[in-house]
Amino acid sequence: MQLPYFCSMQKIQFYQEVFLEYLKEFKVEKQPQSLYEPVNYILNLGGKRLRPVLTLMTTEIFDCDYKKALNAALSVEVFHNFSLIHDDIMDDAPLRRGKETVHEKWDINTGILSGDAMLIMAYQLFENYEGNTFQFLAKLFSKTALEVCEGQQYDVDFETRDDVTIEEYLKMIEYKTAVLVGAAMKMGAIIANTSESNQDKIYEFGKNLGIAFQLQDDYLDAFGDPNTFGKQVGGDIIENKKTYLYLKALEFSNAEDQLQLEHLFGINPSDSTQKIEITKQLFVSSGSAEATQIEIKNYTKKAFSMLESLSISEEKKSLLKEFGEQLMNRNV
Ligand code: IPE
Ligand code: IPE
Ligand code: MG
Ligand code: MG
Ligand code: MG
Repeated sequence: MQLPYFCSMQKIQFYQEVFLEYLKEFKVEKQPQSLYEPVNYILNLGGKRLRPVLTLMTTEIFDCDYKKALNAALSVEVFHNFSLIHDDIMDDAPLRRGKETVHEKWDINTGILSGDAMLIMAYQLFENYEGNTFQFLAKLFSKTALEVCEGQQYDVDFETRDDVTIEEYLKMIEYKTAVLVGAAMKMGAIIANTSESNQDKIYEFGKNLGIAFQLQDDYLDAFGDPNTFGKQVGGDIIENKKTYLYLKALEFSNAEDQLQLEHLFGINPSDSTQKIEITKQLFVSSGSAEATQIEIKNYTKKAFSMLESLSISEEKKSLLKEFGEQLMNRNV
């Protein structure tokens, strides 16, 4: 199956399908069921599967059979889903991919331990690789997983701080989200045994795309369609998350609106309908919603610019760009 016979869309779909086939075989049938049922539940809840698709795609971009990368792709998706279980506990989120979150369906202890088990399973999947490949993958994974923890801690710390800067926010999303997107791609590059320079460039591409992706996630959290988004719309507002939307709204607002926003993000009302409504209005009227859209485009462009000096065909570059465009035009 050579690239020329496929248009980009078909190629992306192809990787999604082969990954889903592989994931099906991963179903954990062990005991105790109470530990493994939530693992199977979250892994089969759907999701875009963007990280494993990127791992497989990158492997082929550097001229290696994507099949060699299936275990690494699975590892990245298992790790991602582990992080979602714990993230939903930390964010007190009721909904994930349109269904109950693990800690809602079971309880918090179940979410903690099933999540822990998944983190270990993710590591275990690297046992399928040998020698240098194993070492490079494991090393990258450990570094990335620790950074995700750091990003998640900043995210929580920022909820109760009122002096978060844009710079701090960008670092936080780089760590909690973008480094995993970069690592998913770098793993493909490692498996393909391409040059270090290529590995680093593709990592930077993924990381910048990941920053755009999290900015978009924050935008959709406020402005997504509740019928299709799959998560609780307004969840970040309820949790007083210091997102780009919030920080820019503060920056762009007059003193009166600033006070109102700061007040809203210092309270936790039992009915948050009004808090969400007013906040969203301020996000729009201040120009922050628009600024966020522009920033998403900027980071996407920055990602694309990383491809310029990469020694791969134009066709492969378009495949990566097509993927980036799709991500930025999503509503889920
Ligand atoms: C959600 O990731 C968590 C973030 C880093 C924003 P995704 O939006 O990739 O979630 P799924 O896997 O498609 O559900
Ligand atoms: C999640 O960020 C990042 C990780 C899971 C590490 P969010 O908290 O914004 O993700 P969602 O919106 O719940 O998917
Ligand atoms: Mg969350
Ligand atoms: Mg979170
Ligand atoms: Mg979010």
